[in-house]
Amino acid sequence: MASSWAGRPPSRRQTLAAALGGASLAVARPVLAAPATPSPSLNQLAKAKGLRFGSAIAAGASDARRMGGSIDNPDYVRVVAGECGLIVPENEMKMQTLRPGPEVFDFTRADRLMAFAAAYSLEVRGHNLLWHNNRWLPAWLNNYDFGSRPATTAERLLVTHIDTVCRHFGPRIRSWDVINETIDPDTGRMRETVLTRHLGDKVIDIAFHAARDALPDCQLVYNDYMEWEAGNERHRAGVLDLLERLRRDGVPVDALGLQSHLGGDSDLQGAPGAPQPAAWRSFLHGVTAMGHDLLVTELDMNDRTLPADPARRDAATATYVRDYLDLTLSFPQVRDVLCWGMLDRFSWLNGRAPRPDGLPRRPCPYDRENRPKPMREAIAAAMRAAPERAPSASGRRPVP
Ligand code: XIL
Repeated sequence: MASSWAGRPPSRRQTLAAALGGASLAVARPVLAAPATPSPSLNQLAKAKGLRFGSAIAAGASDARRMGGSIDNPDYVRVVAGECGLIVPENEMKMQTLRPGPEVFDFTRADRLMAFAAAYSLEVRGHNLLWHNNRWLPAWLNNYDFGSRPATTAERLLVTHIDTVCRHFGPRIRSWDVINETIDPDTGRMRETVLTRHLGDKVIDIAFHAARDALPDCQLVYNDYMEWEAGNERHRAGVLDLLERLRRDGVPVDALGLQSHLGGDSDLQGAPGAPQPAAWRSFLHGVTAMGHDLLVTELDMNDRTLPADPARRDAATATYVRDYLDLTLSFPQVRDVLCWGMLDRFSWLNGRAPRPDGLPRRPCPYDRENRPKPMREAIAAAMRAAPERAPSASGRRPVP
């Protein structure tokens, strides 16, 4: 029966078909033999505590390598539709995608994701307005000729971007990662980019103010990967310093996004540091003491150094994720938990530093055969154990 697919009524698929147009009808077709995702879903468990659960997803289409974790893959859609209350575009809203040149915006792929989300009644987080890290800035921006008034030109480029993107999606997006990863983990200081060369640290202020001007009710987030493991001390301290500076200067930041790529950096060659629960708790206290909300924005597990045996590896990951979530969700300021992908097969970590034994990665809640793993149970158990929080503020700017 079509209606058993992903636990969603057929009307949504019809809406999806209408929203995406004839060429994309395949996205909406039910996979009759596919097993249902467990009930209650992760989002239902989250909701019972005033939380939401979601995942990254891609638009597929023009990017064959990423087709897997996308709205064009029925396996992926089944799991996302079955488990999630919100999605975040894996790459589709980044400057590199939305703005192929200084004067050109291309919303095609992002709009496909928005139509998908509307058809499945999923909310969408915005990610991100500025990935302030040279490695991920568009080449045209890194090579841009800023002319004789470089500060004015740089500010115009940035504000135009943020204003155009925010207004394009409007209030459908209630939470944006305004700045992604501006703190250098090695120094704890701001990264230097073509934008800081002309605007200094104020590039961050300009970005948040532009977002607030365009979307007064949107939750504005600073998102970064200062994780709980040893080795992140400087990164965490740098993020706290930045948030304190922004607060002193009246910059409108509402929340900190905890990327939560657990188990060590994706470029890491050696073993990750051990978790530091006490330091993590005090970091989160420091952030929330400033009045900020928290979000888990990109949860996954770098299983690079975990045992080869899948059962042992999955068990270790589940315990690790559970411990992390228990501590992090003890802060009622966390209202959203999103994974950076639901299926092991399509995790971005497959393209990063490989396991020394060359075995496939298992970073996500579902395995290569699209079956729920112990990590999925760990998230479910953490949701069940989490203290309740006020549900209504989720994803919205807190009312002052
Ligand atoms: C990653 C995507 O998953 C990859 O497809 C892309 O090649 C690079 O970016 N932190 C972030 C995300 O904020 O945007 C990154 O996503 C993963 C790390």
